[in-house]
Amino acid sequence: MTDKKTILVTGASGYIGSHTCVELLNSGYAVIALDNFCNSSREALRRVKRITDMPITVYDADIRDRAALDQILREHRIDAVIHFAGLKAVGESVAKPLMYFENNVAGSVTLLQALAQANVKRFVFSSSATVYGDPESVPIEEGARLSVTNPYGRSKLMVEQLLADLLHSDASWSIGVLRYFNPAGAHPSGLIGEDPRGIPNNLTPFVAQVAAGRRERLSVFGGDYPTPDGTGVRDYIHVVDLARGHLAALTALFDTGKSFTVNLGTGKGYSVLEVVRAFEKACGRTIAYDIVARRPGDIATCYANPAMARNLLGWQAEKGIDEMCADHWRWQSRNPHGFEPA
Ligand SMILES: NC(=O)c1ccc[n+]([C@@H]2O[C@H](COP(=O)([O-])OP(=O)(O)OC[C@H]3O[C@@H](n4cnc5c(N)ncnc54)[C@H](O)[C@@H]3O)[C@@H](O)[C@H]2O)c1
Repeated sequence: MTDKKTILVTGASGYIGSHTCVELLNSGYAVIALDNFCNSSREALRRVKRITDMPITVYDADIRDRAALDQILREHRIDAVIHFAGLKAVGESVAKPLMYFENNVAGSVTLLQALAQANVKRFVFSSSATVYGDPESVPIEEGARLSVTNPYGRSKLMVEQLLADLLHSDASWSIGVLRYFNPAGAHPSGLIGEDPRGIPNNLTPFVAQVAAGRRERLSVFGGDYPTPDGTGVRDYIHVVDLARGHLAALTALFDTGKSFTVNLGTGKGYSVLEVVRAFEKACGRTIAYDIVARRPGDIATCYANPAMARNLLGWQAEKGIDEMCADHWRWQSRNPHGFEPA
């Protein structure tokens, strides 16, 4: 018998999930990993084992598969769940909204039903700053108006809302909703990192692939925003800081049982061109880019007020943009084709 707390992590082999598994294992939690590997490689969790030298139980399962969830919940005494599993490509969500609602919303409902039946009621949910839409002002506080501009964002907001209803119906749930800003970087070991399939949707993996010669040039969408250099400003948060935010959230849920919704960001915004320059410094190469038209739906500036996470969870981001770029470059240059061999 062990007194370790056991955390079920859905979407564990994905970008943020794998980094969170490392932090959980290094902090003395036992991890039950669940993923259907629709957007990740099995190698990621093997690397997590390599980094931590700790065992991890892996289930190849889908959050929409109630029988599989019931089986896992019968086999393990789970103390809390971190729910990362979901689809996250905004463009794809516009083209295939039902797929997004089925996976992200219906999948979350099935998971919550299974957890309710098993009486596992500590739950951490991956939400996103996308629920703020085009913010009225920055820095963005948790109480800001919520509005979404695409089905992906709507799926996140719908799950936030259904979690609020669930909590209202049954106060024995303890739920932490974490609104991530822009995760970037990779584990300092260079063993795990973001491994996008196809054309990267996010800036840093795209920049990294240009630096590595896998793509010719970066397209910067919009050079005429009302920002200091005209390019969009975002709050980039190192994925290891983000992962640690989940541990702080779990600790708060275990210690107080109180539910919360908090931003996980740094509170500082960087423009696209500032990120490009930081990446050039990290990799010692020039990143070729073109400034092209704005992308519909994109906003000028988005960064968090991170005070609530600091006050409630005692957590704050510690790593800056240079470390993010250096770690991302280490991952990219050591794994030019991601987790899969060339
Ligand atoms: N990366 C970001 O920019 C960002 C920002 C805000 C919020 N989020 C949210 O954080 C979570 C994790 O994001 P990520 O960047 O690690 O994405 P990711 O795609 O790398 O990880 C998600 C994981 O979930 C798995 N998955 C998807 N649907 C599943 C299902 N039905 N059953 C089981 N597994 C399933 C995928 O295979 C993948 O391993 C997602 O919910 C995402 O929406 C991400």
